[in-house]
Amino acid sequence: MAVRKYDLKEDCTFLKDGEAVCVILDQTALPGRRIYRELTTAEDFYEAIKTLAVRGAPAIGVCACYAMYVLAARMEATDFADLRARLGADGDYLISSRPTAVNLAWGVREMLSFADSLADLPIPEIVAAMREKSEEIHRDHIDMNYRIAEYGLTLVKPGDGILTHCNAGPLACLKYGTATAPILLGHERGIPFRVFADETRPLLQGARLTAYELSEAGVDVTLICDNMASLVMKNGWVQAVFVGCDRIAANGDFANKIGTSGVAVLAKYYGIPFYTLGPTSTVDMDCPTGADIEIELRDPEEIKSRWYREPMSPAGVACYNPSFDVTDHSLVTAIVTDRGIVYPPFDENLRKLYL
Ligand code: MRU
Repeated sequence: MAVRKYDLKEDCTFLKDGEAVCVILDQTALPGRRIYRELTTAEDFYEAIKTLAVRGAPAIGVCACYAMYVLAARMEATDFADLRARLGADGDYLISSRPTAVNLAWGVREMLSFADSLADLPIPEIVAAMREKSEEIHRDHIDMNYRIAEYGLTLVKPGDGILTHCNAGPLACLKYGTATAPILLGHERGIPFRVFADETRPLLQGARLTAYELSEAGVDVTLICDNMASLVMKNGWVQAVFVGCDRIAANGDFANKIGTSGVAVLAKYYGIPFYTLGPTSTVDMDCPTGADIEIELRDPEEIKSRWYREPMSPAGVACYNPSFDVTDHSLVTAIVTDRGIVYPPFDENLRKLYL
Protein backbone atom coordinates (compact mmCIF):
# COMPACT_ATOMS: atom_id res chain seq x y z
CA MET A 1 0.00 0.00 0.00
CA ALA A 2 2.33 2.77 -1.15
CA VAL A 3 1.39 6.23 -2.32
CA ARG A 4 2.53 6.67 -5.90
CA LYS A 5 3.35 10.34 -5.88
CA TYR A 6 4.82 12.78 -3.37
CA ASP A 7 4.35 16.41 -4.22
CA LEU A 8 5.14 17.92 -0.85
CA LYS A 9 4.39 21.37 -2.22
CA GLU A 10 0.73 20.41 -2.64
CA ASP A 11 0.53 20.46 1.15
CA CYS A 12 0.02 23.28 3.62
CA THR A 13 3.62 23.22 4.90
CA PHE A 14 6.79 22.51 2.89
CA LEU A 15 10.37 23.63 2.29
CA LYS A 16 11.33 26.08 -0.41
CA ASP A 17 13.61 24.53 -3.05
CA GLY A 18 17.28 24.94 -2.15
CA GLU A 19 16.63 27.35 0.73
CA ALA A 20 16.26 27.06 4.49
CA VAL A 21 12.75 28.51 4.36
CA CYS A 22 9.49 26.85 5.38
CA VAL A 23 6.46 27.90 3.38
CA ILE A 24 2.97 27.60 4.83
CA LEU A 25 -0.46 28.13 3.36
CA ASP A 26 -2.03 30.60 5.79
CA GLN A 27 -5.17 28.79 6.96
CA THR A 28 -6.54 31.90 8.65
CA ALA A 29 -7.14 33.45 5.20
CA LEU A 30 -9.12 30.49 3.83
CA PRO A 31 -11.51 29.94 2.18
CA GLY A 32 -11.41 33.41 0.64
CA ARG A 33 -7.71 33.79 -0.12
CA ARG A 34 -4.79 31.41 -0.70
CA ILE A 35 -1.86 33.20 0.87
CA TYR A 36 1.53 31.55 1.31
CA ARG A 37 3.90 32.78 4.05
CA GLU A 38 7.60 32.17 4.52
CA LEU A 39 8.89 31.22 7.99
CA THR A 40 12.55 31.50 8.94
CA THR A 41 12.80 32.41 12.64
CA ALA A 42 11.63 30.73 15.85
CA GLU A 43 9.27 33.68 16.35
CA ASP A 44 7.79 33.19 12.86
CA PHE A 45 7.06 29.53 13.60
CA TYR A 46 5.69 30.24 17.09
CA GLU A 47 3.34 32.91 15.78
CA ALA A 48 2.15 30.79 12.82
CA ILE A 49 1.30 27.86 15.10
CA LYS A 50 -0.23 30.00 17.87
CA THR A 51 -2.50 31.93 15.51
CA LEU A 52 -3.51 28.74 13.64
CA ALA A 53 -2.02 29.92 10.34
CA VAL A 54 -0.69 26.36 10.34
CA ARG A 55 -2.89 24.07 12.39
CA GLY A 56 -4.12 20.52 12.88
CA ALA A 57 -2.09 18.02 14.86
CA PRO A 58 -0.12 16.24 12.10
CA ALA A 59 0.47 19.46 10.11
CA ILE A 60 1.95 21.26 13.11
CA GLY A 61 4.05 18.16 13.83
CA VAL A 62 5.54 18.23 10.34
CA CYS A 63 5.88 22.02 10.47
CA ALA A 64 7.82 21.60 13.74
CA CYS A 65 10.21 19.20 11.95
CA TYR A 66 10.74 21.77 9.20
CA ALA A 67 11.26 24.43 11.87
CA MET A 68 14.03 22.42 13.50
CA TYR A 69 15.84 22.10 10.17
CA VAL A 70 15.35 25.76 9.16
CA LEU A 71 16.52 27.02 12.55
CA ALA A 72 19.55 24.69 12.57
CA ALA A 73 20.51 25.80 9.06
CA ARG A 74 20.34 29.49 9.97
CA MET A 75 22.05 29.20 13.34
CA GLU A 76 25.70 29.42 12.29
CA ALA A 77 26.55 27.21 15.28
CA THR A 78 30.21 26.92 16.28
CA ASP A 79 30.04 23.23 17.20
CA PHE A 80 27.50 20.48 17.95
CA ALA A 81 27.11 21.43 21.62
CA ASP A 82 26.25 25.00 20.61
CA LEU A 83 23.81 23.82 17.91
CA ARG A 84 22.12 21.36 20.26
CA ALA A 85 21.72 23.80 23.15
CA ARG A 86 20.20 26.53 20.97
CA LEU A 87 18.00 24.11 19.03
CA GLY A 88 16.75 22.56 22.29
CA ALA A 89 15.77 26.01 23.58
CA ASP A 90 14.00 26.86 20.30
CA GLY A 91 12.19 23.52 20.44
CA ASP A 92 10.91 24.20 23.98
CA TYR A 93 9.74 27.62 22.85
CA LEU A 94 7.81 26.14 19.91
CA ILE A 95 6.26 23.40 22.06
CA SER A 96 4.93 26.10 24.41
CA SER A 97 2.86 27.63 21.57
CA ARG A 98 0.12 24.97 21.78
CA PRO A 99 -0.06 22.31 24.49
CA THR A 100 -2.75 19.81 23.48
CA ALA A 101 -1.70 18.17 20.21
CA VAL A 102 1.11 15.73 20.92
CA ASN A 103 2.48 15.95 17.37
CA LEU A 104 4.15 19.32 17.97
CA ALA A 105 6.34 17.99 20.77
CA TRP A 106 6.73 14.72 18.87
CA GLY A 107 8.13 16.54 15.81
CA VAL A 108 10.56 18.62 17.85
CA ARG A 109 11.82 15.57 19.76
CA GLU A 110 12.16 13.41 16.64
CA MET A 111 14.39 16.03 15.04
CA LEU A 112 16.46 16.64 18.18
CA SER A 113 17.14 12.95 18.69
CA PHE A 114 17.97 12.63 14.99
CA ALA A 115 20.49 15.48 15.36
CA ASP A 116 21.91 13.73 18.45
CA SER A 117 22.49 10.58 16.42
CA LEU A 118 24.72 12.60 14.05
CA ALA A 119 26.69 14.47 16.73
CA ASP A 120 30.07 13.38 15.34
CA LEU A 121 29.50 14.81 11.86
CA PRO A 122 30.45 18.32 10.69
CA ILE A 123 27.61 20.85 11.21
CA PRO A 124 26.82 21.33 7.46
CA GLU A 125 26.33 17.57 7.10
CA ILE A 126 24.04 17.45 10.13
CA VAL A 127 21.99 20.31 8.71
CA ALA A 128 21.72 18.66 5.28
CA ALA A 129 20.62 15.39 6.89
CA MET A 130 18.01 17.26 8.96
CA ARG A 131 16.50 18.67 5.78
CA GLU A 132 16.19 15.17 4.33
CA LYS A 133 14.81 13.81 7.58
CA SER A 134 12.10 16.46 7.83
CA GLU A 135 10.95 15.76 4.27
CA GLU A 136 11.04 12.03 4.97
CA ILE A 137 8.73 12.57 7.97
CA HIS A 138 6.38 14.54 5.73
CA ARG A 139 6.31 11.70 3.17
CA ASP A 140 5.77 9.17 5.98
CA HIS A 141 2.69 11.11 7.10
CA ILE A 142 1.28 11.01 3.57
CA ASP A 143 1.81 7.24 3.54
CA MET A 144 0.19 6.93 6.97
CA ASN A 145 -2.84 8.89 5.80
CA TYR A 146 -3.12 6.65 2.77
CA ARG A 147 -3.14 3.58 4.99
CA ILE A 148 -5.72 5.22 7.28
CA ALA A 149 -7.82 5.83 4.16
CA GLU A 150 -7.68 2.16 3.17
CA TYR A 151 -8.59 0.96 6.67
CA GLY A 152 -11.32 3.58 7.01
CA LEU A 153 -12.88 2.58 3.70
CA THR A 154 -13.59 -0.89 5.10
CA LEU A 155 -15.91 0.69 7.68
CA VAL A 156 -18.36 2.37 5.31
CA LYS A 157 -20.35 1.51 2.20
CA PRO A 158 -21.12 3.47 -0.97
CA GLY A 159 -23.78 6.09 -0.37
CA ASP A 160 -23.25 6.31 3.39
CA GLY A 161 -23.70 9.59 5.21
CA ILE A 162 -20.62 10.55 7.21
CA LEU A 163 -20.55 13.32 9.77
CA THR A 164 -17.29 15.04 10.65
CA HIS A 165 -16.34 17.76 13.11
CA CYS A 166 -13.64 20.42 12.78
CA ASN A 167 -11.04 19.85 10.09
CA ALA A 168 -8.91 16.75 9.87
CA GLY A 169 -8.42 17.04 6.13
CA PRO A 170 -5.29 17.70 4.07
CA LEU A 171 -4.88 21.17 5.59
CA ALA A 172 -4.68 19.76 9.11
CA CYS A 173 -3.02 16.46 8.39
CA LEU A 174 -1.33 16.66 4.94
CA LYS A 175 -2.40 14.82 1.80
CA TYR A 176 -5.71 12.92 2.15
CA GLY A 177 -6.07 14.12 5.76
CA THR A 178 -7.07 11.61 8.43
CA ALA A 179 -10.83 11.83 9.09
CA THR A 180 -11.30 12.80 5.44
CA ALA A 181 -8.87 10.19 4.11
CA PRO A 182 -11.42 7.41 3.40
CA ILE A 183 -13.79 9.97 1.91
CA LEU A 184 -11.17 11.47 -0.43
CA LEU A 185 -9.68 8.12 -1.44
CA GLY A 186 -13.19 6.71 -1.91
CA HIS A 187 -14.06 9.71 -4.07
CA GLU A 188 -10.95 9.08 -6.22
CA ARG A 189 -12.21 5.53 -6.72
CA GLY A 190 -15.72 6.62 -7.60
CA ILE A 191 -17.29 5.63 -4.25
CA PRO A 192 -19.91 8.22 -3.30
CA PHE A 193 -20.47 9.48 0.24
CA ARG A 194 -22.63 12.25 1.61
CA VAL A 195 -20.67 14.26 4.15
CA PHE A 196 -22.07 16.52 6.85
CA ALA A 197 -19.48 19.00 8.08
CA ASP A 198 -20.10 20.64 11.45
CA GLU A 199 -19.18 24.31 11.21
CA THR A 200 -17.21 23.96 14.49
CA ARG A 201 -17.56 26.99 16.71
CA PRO A 202 -15.76 29.15 17.59
CA LEU A 203 -13.08 29.14 14.88
CA LEU A 204 -15.19 27.57 12.12
CA GLN A 205 -12.62 25.06 10.87
CA GLY A 206 -15.48 22.90 9.56
CA ALA A 207 -17.06 25.71 7.57
CA ARG A 208 -13.90 27.47 6.42
CA LEU A 209 -11.66 24.45 5.83
CA THR A 210 -13.44 21.07 5.67
CA ALA A 211 -16.30 22.34 3.52
CA TYR A 212 -13.70 24.08 1.32
CA GLU A 213 -11.47 21.03 0.92
CA LEU A 214 -14.29 18.60 0.23
CA SER A 215 -16.17 20.83 -2.17
CA GLU A 216 -12.94 21.63 -4.05
CA ALA A 217 -12.42 17.86 -4.39
CA GLY A 218 -15.97 17.44 -5.71
CA VAL A 219 -17.27 15.50 -2.69
CA ASP A 220 -20.96 15.86 -1.79
CA VAL A 221 -20.66 17.96 1.38
CA THR A 222 -23.36 19.73 3.37
CA LEU A 223 -22.42 22.30 5.99
CA ILE A 224 -24.40 22.32 9.24
CA CYS A 225 -24.20 24.30 12.46
CA ASP A 226 -22.87 22.30 15.40
CA ASN A 227 -26.29 22.25 17.04
CA MET A 228 -27.85 20.54 13.99
CA ALA A 229 -25.89 17.30 14.32
CA SER A 230 -28.55 15.71 16.50
CA LEU A 231 -31.33 16.38 13.98
CA VAL A 232 -29.26 15.12 11.06
CA MET A 233 -28.56 11.90 12.98
CA LYS A 234 -32.18 11.53 14.03
CA ASN A 235 -33.22 11.86 10.38
CA GLY A 236 -31.16 8.75 9.62
CA TRP A 237 -28.76 10.62 7.37
CA VAL A 238 -25.57 9.59 9.18
CA GLN A 239 -24.18 6.04 9.08
CA ALA A 240 -20.77 6.83 10.61
CA VAL A 241 -18.93 9.63 12.36
CA PHE A 242 -15.29 10.21 11.36
CA VAL A 243 -13.27 12.72 13.41
CA GLY A 244 -9.58 13.46 13.82
CA CYS A 245 -7.60 13.53 17.03
CA ASP A 246 -4.94 15.70 18.62
CA ARG A 247 -3.75 13.26 21.28
CA ILE A 248 -4.86 9.71 21.98
CA ALA A 249 -4.19 8.53 25.53
CA ALA A 250 -3.11 4.97 26.31
CA ASN A 251 -6.64 4.03 27.44
CA GLY A 252 -8.30 5.25 24.23
CA ASP A 253 -9.59 8.59 25.53
CA PHE A 254 -8.69 11.26 23.03
CA ALA A 255 -8.55 15.03 22.72
CA ASN A 256 -10.02 16.66 19.65
CA LYS A 257 -11.60 19.97 18.75
CA ILE A 258 -14.11 21.29 21.27
CA GLY A 259 -17.52 19.77 20.57
CA THR A 260 -16.24 16.35 19.57
CA SER A 261 -17.30 14.66 22.81
CA GLY A 262 -20.83 16.00 22.36
CA VAL A 263 -20.95 14.47 18.87
CA ALA A 264 -19.78 11.16 20.38
CA VAL A 265 -22.57 11.24 22.98
CA LEU A 266 -25.12 11.88 20.23
CA ALA A 267 -23.73 9.07 18.08
CA LYS A 268 -24.02 6.67 21.01
CA TYR A 269 -27.63 7.74 21.60
CA TYR A 270 -28.57 7.20 17.96
CA GLY A 271 -26.57 3.95 17.64
CA ILE A 272 -24.18 5.37 15.02
CA PRO A 273 -20.59 4.07 14.96
CA PHE A 274 -18.11 6.74 16.05
CA TYR A 275 -14.51 6.54 14.83
CA THR A 276 -11.45 8.66 15.40
CA LEU A 277 -8.76 8.44 12.74
CA GLY A 278 -5.14 9.45 13.28
CA PRO A 279 -1.53 8.50 12.65
CA THR A 280 0.51 6.70 15.29
CA SER A 281 2.36 10.00 15.89
CA THR A 282 -0.87 11.14 17.60
CA VAL A 283 -0.94 8.22 20.05
CA ASP A 284 0.74 9.18 23.33
CA MET A 285 1.44 6.01 25.28
CA ASP A 286 3.06 8.14 28.01
CA CYS A 287 -0.31 9.74 28.67
CA PRO A 288 -2.40 7.24 30.69
CA THR A 289 -5.89 8.81 30.32
CA GLY A 290 -7.70 11.81 28.92
CA ALA A 291 -7.50 13.46 32.33
CA ASP A 292 -3.74 13.77 31.79
CA ILE A 293 -4.13 15.82 28.59
CA GLU A 294 -3.57 19.55 28.96
CA ILE A 295 -6.41 21.46 27.30
CA GLU A 296 -5.49 24.72 25.63
CA LEU A 297 -7.56 27.75 26.68
CA ARG A 298 -7.82 30.47 24.05
CA ASP A 299 -8.72 34.12 23.82
CA PRO A 300 -12.43 34.76 24.66
CA GLU A 301 -12.59 37.25 21.78
CA GLU A 302 -12.67 34.23 19.44
CA ILE A 303 -16.21 33.70 20.76
CA LYS A 304 -17.27 37.23 21.57
CA SER A 305 -16.17 39.35 18.66
CA ARG A 306 -13.92 37.67 16.11
CA TRP A 307 -16.52 37.00 13.41
CA TYR A 308 -18.82 39.95 14.03
CA ARG A 309 -18.91 43.60 12.99
CA GLU A 310 -19.57 44.49 16.61
CA PRO A 311 -19.20 42.47 19.84
CA MET A 312 -21.95 39.86 20.27
CA SER A 313 -21.85 39.76 24.07
CA PRO A 314 -21.86 42.28 26.88
CA ALA A 315 -18.47 43.84 27.54
CA GLY A 316 -16.77 42.16 30.46
CA VAL A 317 -18.98 39.04 30.55
CA ALA A 318 -17.12 35.96 31.77
CA CYS A 319 -16.22 33.65 28.92
CA TYR A 320 -14.69 30.18 28.81
CA ASN A 321 -12.96 29.11 25.60
CA PRO A 322 -11.35 25.65 25.78
CA SER A 323 -10.02 24.72 22.37
CA PHE A 324 -10.41 20.95 22.82
CA ASP A 325 -12.38 18.41 24.79
CA VAL A 326 -11.71 14.80 25.66
CA THR A 327 -13.95 12.05 24.32
CA ASP A 328 -14.23 9.14 26.70
CA HIS A 329 -13.06 5.83 25.24
CA SER A 330 -16.42 4.24 26.14
CA LEU A 331 -18.00 6.31 23.36
CA VAL A 332 -15.50 5.26 20.69
CA THR A 333 -16.33 2.37 18.36
CA ALA A 334 -12.78 2.09 17.04
CA ILE A 335 -9.56 4.04 16.50
CA VAL A 336 -8.33 3.94 12.91
CA THR A 337 -4.55 4.23 12.66
CA ASP A 338 -2.00 3.67 9.93
CA ARG A 339 -1.16 0.35 11.61
CA GLY A 340 -4.72 -0.94 11.63
CA ILE A 341 -8.13 -0.53 13.23
CA VAL A 342 -8.01 -0.71 17.01
CA TYR A 343 -11.12 -1.92 18.83
CA PRO A 344 -11.80 -2.00 22.59
CA PRO A 345 -10.37 -2.80 25.02
CA PHE A 346 -8.18 0.10 23.94
CA ASP A 347 -5.72 -0.09 26.84
CA GLU A 348 -4.74 -3.60 25.70
CA ASN A 349 -5.08 -3.15 21.96
CA LEU A 350 -3.32 0.22 21.54
CA ARG A 351 -0.26 -1.31 23.20
CA LYS A 352 -0.19 -4.04 20.56
CA LEU A 353 0.45 -1.39 17.86
CA TYR A 354 3.94 -1.01 19.26
CA LEU A 355 4.89 -4.71 19.60
O1 MRU B 1 -7.16 24.09 16.92
P1 MRU B 1 -6.91 23.29 15.69
O2 MRU B 1 -7.66 23.78 14.50
O3 MRU B 1 -5.44 23.06 15.41
O4 MRU B 1 -7.52 21.91 16.10
C1 MRU B 1 -7.04 20.73 15.71
C2 MRU B 1 -8.03 20.13 14.85
O5 MRU B 1 -8.13 20.52 13.73
C3 MRU B 1 -8.93 19.11 15.27
O6 MRU B 1 -9.05 18.88 16.57
C4 MRU B 1 -8.80 17.95 14.35
O7 MRU B 1 -9.99 17.28 14.31
C5 MRU B 1 -7.66 17.07 14.68
S1 MRU B 1 -6.22 17.53 13.93
C6 MRU B 1 -6.05 16.21 12.92
